[in-house]
Amino acid sequence: MDARREMSAGTQEDSLDPKDWAAMAALAHRIVDDGFAHMETLRERPAWRDLPPEIAAVFTGPPPRDPQPLGEVLETVTETVMAYPMGNNHPRFWAWFMGAGNMTGALADFIAAVQASNLGGGKHAASLVDQQVVDWLRQMVGFPETASGTLVSGGSIANLIGLTVARNVKAGVDIRELGVGAIEKPLRFYGSDQLHSCHRKAVETLGLGNRALRRIPSDADWRLDVSALRRAIAEDRAAGFRPACIIANAGSVNTGSIDDLNALADLAAEEDLWFHVDGCIGALIAIALRHRDIVDGLARADSLALDPHKWLHAPFDVGCCLVRDAAAHRKAFVTSAEYLATSERGLASGAWLYELGLQTTRGFRALKVWMALKEHGVDKFGRLIDQNIDMAHYLSHLVDREPMLTLTAPTVINIVCFRFDPGGLDEQALKALNTEIMLRLQESGTAVLTDTTLNGRHSLRAAICNHRTRYDDLDLVVGELVRIGRGLLA
Ligand SMILES: Cc1ncc(COP(=O)(O)O)c(C=O)c1O
Repeated sequence: MDARREMSAGTQEDSLDPKDWAAMAALAHRIVDDGFAHMETLRERPAWRDLPPEIAAVFTGPPPRDPQPLGEVLETVTETVMAYPMGNNHPRFWAWFMGAGNMTGALADFIAAVQASNLGGGKHAASLVDQQVVDWLRQMVGFPETASGTLVSGGSIANLIGLTVARNVKAGVDIRELGVGAIEKPLRFYGSDQLHSCHRKAVETLGLGNRALRRIPSDADWRLDVSALRRAIAEDRAAGFRPACIIANAGSVNTGSIDDLNALADLAAEEDLWFHVDGCIGALIAIALRHRDIVDGLARADSLALDPHKWLHAPFDVGCCLVRDAAAHRKAFVTSAEYLATSERGLASGAWLYELGLQTTRGFRALKVWMALKEHGVDKFGRLIDQNIDMAHYLSHLVDREPMLTLTAPTVINIVCFRFDPGGLDEQALKALNTEIMLRLQESGTAVLTDTTLNGRHSLRAAICNHRTRYDDLDLVVGELVRIGRGLLA
């Protein structure tokens, strides 16, 4: 007893657990009730609104030294965080390309946090859930049983994982031991000029440099030009480069275009290149019964990045990389640390999931995917994807019908690019006009669209990855858009 007193310097034993469990549980029930009320009335609230300076000011200042009752902290969260959301769960949010979340996923995140398991691995149920979700995703996109995969924070890291395996397999040297400096001929990766920016970050992070990623022009439909790629590969070989990997878009971020996956898989096989598919947007179309042909060839990839936090609407964040050659996948990341030895029995006798990626500690992000898939079934998610694609075609029809609006790219999946074009304006004036329309739509809280530039043409862009959107929302936004545009011209 004396030793304890001496060694604790006379302080009281303490922990972070509530002193009054019942009181905290009551508060937790309130959080759930408020969360459900918030979601039930979401449609009535603005899709986005700007933060006043006094709200922004709440998030400045030093770390708190003194305690504050949790009820008060919660009140601040309600008045600030919950009152000024990004808005991506709102029915009329079609910016960039995001999922809209779902309540089962939110509850799953709470349960996962209560359990607080570390998905670095080990023998416990959460680890089996993680492995099952990877296996379900594998089956949903038609990858072989022998493939492996890992859940990561999102598409950017999923692509990085796939491209890391590609680099290591195709480097021609033991790159993990010797580093990129030992590669005899500089590696070349190929993708279209429509690749997501995360691929640039990936090749830079992999030590290959941005120039190692050769962007091949896309054709009139924003698909990688396969003949141009074939020529580029030959040119690079002749110039002393080592062509290593083709990256295909299954859903490009600007327009939703889908590269010719079968032609690219054929070319990769012919040229002995790794075939990576960025399916962050479109891979899950494989479960949409009416549109799945659009992504035919997807399952031929050596590696595939997909994003359950987009079209499965898992609350952020969760992405997934699947790799056809499980041994190559593991070989790219496995390490042997004496403090992470496997044992015959006990907690360390389960799979080490950290050996399939960059993280050691991993969160239990699988549960939100697992619970929502069990609750609704894969086919429901497929139908919702079909519904979003149908809605995008309906929006394109509304645009086509409206003389003041013009489509700026073909609508293939759920992304619609268009602009307000009354005629007679130059590009600069059109950009200023459409930007103002976009901002007014956002600031009025009506809807959130974003913009892009296609072959020098500034365009508004609606990416309908949203299970709450209704056809009426599309009618309303097109009406508002035209009204704002006309008003600006007056
Ligand atoms: C085609 C494509 N690839 C990769 C990413 C990156 O995914 P994440 O934002 O989940 O990291 C995105 C994001 O929208 C994307 O559209």
